[in-house]
Amino acid sequence: MRSWQFHEFGQIDKLQMEDVDIPTPTGDEVLVKMKYAGLNPADKFLIMGLYQGCAEPSYSVGRDGCGEVIQTPEGSKFKAGDLVITPSATVGINRDGTLAEYLSLPEDHFALLPSWWSPEEGAAGTKVFLTCWQALSDAAHLQPDETVLVTGASGGIGLAALAIAKEMGATTIAVSRGVKKAAQLKKLGADCVLDTEDPDIVANVKELGGADVILDIVGGDFLSKCIDMANPYGRICIIGALAGINCEISPVGIIFKRLQIHGMQVSMYKADESQRSLKELLAVLEPNKVALKIDKIFPFEEVQEAFEYMRYGPLGKVLIGPIDE
Ligand SMILES: NC(=O)c1ccc[n+]([C@@H]2O[C@H](COP(=O)([O-])OP(=O)(O)OC[C@H]3O[C@@H](n4cnc5c(N)ncnc54)[C@H](OP(=O)(O)O)[C@@H]3O)[C@@H](O)[C@H]2O)c1
Repeated sequence: MRSWQFHEFGQIDKLQMEDVDIPTPTGDEVLVKMKYAGLNPADKFLIMGLYQGCAEPSYSVGRDGCGEVIQTPEGSKFKAGDLVITPSATVGINRDGTLAEYLSLPEDHFALLPSWWSPEEGAAGTKVFLTCWQALSDAAHLQPDETVLVTGASGGIGLAALAIAKEMGATTIAVSRGVKKAAQLKKLGADCVLDTEDPDIVANVKELGGADVILDIVGGDFLSKCIDMANPYGRICIIGALAGINCEISPVGIIFKRLQIHGMQVSMYKADESQRSLKELLAVLEPNKVALKIDKIFPFEEVQEAFEYMRYGPLGKVLIGPIDE
């Protein structure tokens, strides 16, 4: 089969398409023929050796995907022909990932594709939806009358956070670089859109009533602004640090507003926790059949081009596929 593999940490060009053996399922593993894989910035960080807890290469990356069950262990809850997604946090981190024609994983690493998602939507959403669900629900305990602010709003995390927060009944503030995408972000669930670079962003958020819950992927100096924008008893979930890993923050705002700061890491969840999380999330998304916006789908041969495209801030997810053609 064809598989995108890397053998040593380095730049993204270490990832190469190769011919390797189709995996042979052992124990309780299910063999799946992949249809689509979803890309995440973490795939790139992993190849660069910047992802804590990842396995030593060689293996294939890819944390999200949707495929068709080919072979099951005895007594499996799946049957041949089922379409499945990959909620398990460890896929493509300490074992082979979805950027391959076949994937063999323990049964509890897969879940059935929700009935209202296409295979493309299944490959797009799982990890960012689960991250945001765990942030908004498990960590921040978001309430329907609260306001959620999300940074990097046009990316995978941003759009997932807006979609879930809307379904939970919250008001949403989307923070995005520039305001070019404002109209589309409003269509995708933002009540209000602000510019990441706006020097008056703290005052503007306060004018809107402040933020009760903040999901931040920008990091760097923006984190101290998050502390200033948060309301008393606010919860800040730190998910990424795209603008920098160092920042200066004052403890005073945290103390006097009794803020809670949560570090989020979706890959900490074990397979059973990811399954529980997915079930809860889907119960919230199902009434309005919510899916994640897909920006562009690249052919299997163009994984490098797809990673390059992600650098320019797409609106939604970037996928690879169809892989099984
Ligand atoms: N902790 C976890 O468990 C977890 C899970 C998933 C993702 N993450 C991390 O969260 C981050 C975002 O992931 P994603 O899937 O949303 O990525 P993505 O789809 O590539 O989107 C990132 C968005 O962030 C904004 N952005 C990009 N570079 C920026 C910069 N230098 N400064 C400010 N804003 C910038 C852009 O949105 P605008 O143009 O709208 O500003 C971009 O679309 C990544 O670092 C990823 O590794 C962490």
